[in-house]
Amino acid sequence: MTIDLILTNAKAYVNDRIVDCSLAIDQGKIFKIGRESNMPKTETKIDLKNLLVLPGLIDVHVHLRDQGKEYKEDFYSGTAAAAAGGITTVLDMPNNKPVTMSVEALRKRVKIAERKILVNVGFYSEFPKNITETEEIIREGAVAFKLYMAEQIGGLNIDDDHKLLETFKMVSKLKVPVAVHAEDKTTLKRVEEEYKRANCNDIDAFLCAHSEKVELTAVKRLLSIAKQTNVHIHFCHISTRNGLKAIVDAKKSGMTTTCETTANHLFLSVEDLRKIGTLALTMPPIREKHHIVALWNGIKNNFIDILASDHAPHTLDEKKAESIWDVKVGTPGLETTLPLLLTKVKHGQLSITDVVRLMVKKPSEVFKLKGRGCLKEGNIADLVVVDLDMKYKVDATKFHSKAKYSPFDGWNVEGKPVKTFVGGRLIMDEGEIIGEAGNGEIVRRE
Ligand code: DOR
Ligand code: ZN
Ligand code: ZN
Repeated sequence: MTIDLILTNAKAYVNDRIVDCSLAIDQGKIFKIGRESNMPKTETKIDLKNLLVLPGLIDVHVHLRDQGKEYKEDFYSGTAAAAAGGITTVLDMPNNKPVTMSVEALRKRVKIAERKILVNVGFYSEFPKNITETEEIIREGAVAFKLYMAEQIGGLNIDDDHKLLETFKMVSKLKVPVAVHAEDKTTLKRVEEEYKRANCNDIDAFLCAHSEKVELTAVKRLLSIAKQTNVHIHFCHISTRNGLKAIVDAKKSGMTTTCETTANHLFLSVEDLRKIGTLALTMPPIREKHHIVALWNGIKNNFIDILASDHAPHTLDEKKAESIWDVKVGTPGLETTLPLLLTKVKHGQLSITDVVRLMVKKPSEVFKLKGRGCLKEGNIADLVVVDLDMKYKVDATKFHSKAKYSPFDGWNVEGKPVKTFVGGRLIMDEGEIIGEAGNGEIVRRE
């Protein structure tokens, strides 16, 4: 018997340890992990020269755009950016044009994606107008719902606690998480309108509107509604000490709730935002130092479950409007997240186990992605090969994303994804995309 591919001389992250081994890959799956002498026959071998092999990263918070927002990013460019960043599965957010909030919209989006994706893609849906359609949307394959609390994007009236409760009850039966953008619309808009009336259009005005309180109010409100049901709320991009604390308290009380943060919120502070300007503007915004300390503590104590990029590409023009209120918020993050984390590993401030927990294991558990989440025989052969010794400068002009800017542009990083395998196929090699569009798989809720 001959098999498709053997990767030799790997230092692979297997069973929470780094082991010297070879990996045999056949029909898109990991066939065997062991000594080279015990491997089956093959015609194709790749010598990994003792580089580290991790299970492919899963980025649960990505805006791939395409359709009416193709000029910002499309399925090909976005998944090429993922591949370059060592990410083999992304979950796509629903604030698209048209919004993903119906069976038809989801079906159409999947159909367009199928031909274009290089890595695996799963889809979020916003809530439909008619909550009885929630079940059909999950049956169609959406992996989770997204609930945007900063303004209404889907069909659910976010001002109505009773409707939220009814919806959470419904979703708890479907056993999918609800991922929430926790910024309270009422608190946020009140201040935003005040500043707009007073003609305050700068970064400080934006920071006052998107205050710490805006996050905490949304977190508390959602937790108190969710508590009356068994729904699993997953909090996206948590950015504040007290927001995190409220979630940790809820976890301790026995609620099923999880949270994520992003590299922006861990690596940048308001001083960086003031220095870099609107290019670094995100929602929620990056914060003062004491929040950053709290987030890193949250990672150390396993309070933060997931790290995601919140890859939110816009054009350079859109990032540079006159008034802060017209600037499009969000930054690309697919190509910087892993290198930033590996730099922390290199400096002894984070372990490889932390990286795998935050970007592979927990994402696969929270979103129930079968066959992914660790390197083991029988699992899908999504892997990333990492060179921990490679030192380089982030150069956003070289991004595969259409968004060729980054708050981390020019940063010195250490550790680079050098090969990305999706379903056993090498799709990125030394920064170059060599896979074919359509190589990725659509990840469906089973
Ligand atoms: O920074 C952000 N960008 N936050 C959001 O909530 C939306 C996102 C986007 O789609 O650009
Ligand atoms: Zn968000
Ligand atoms: Zn987002």
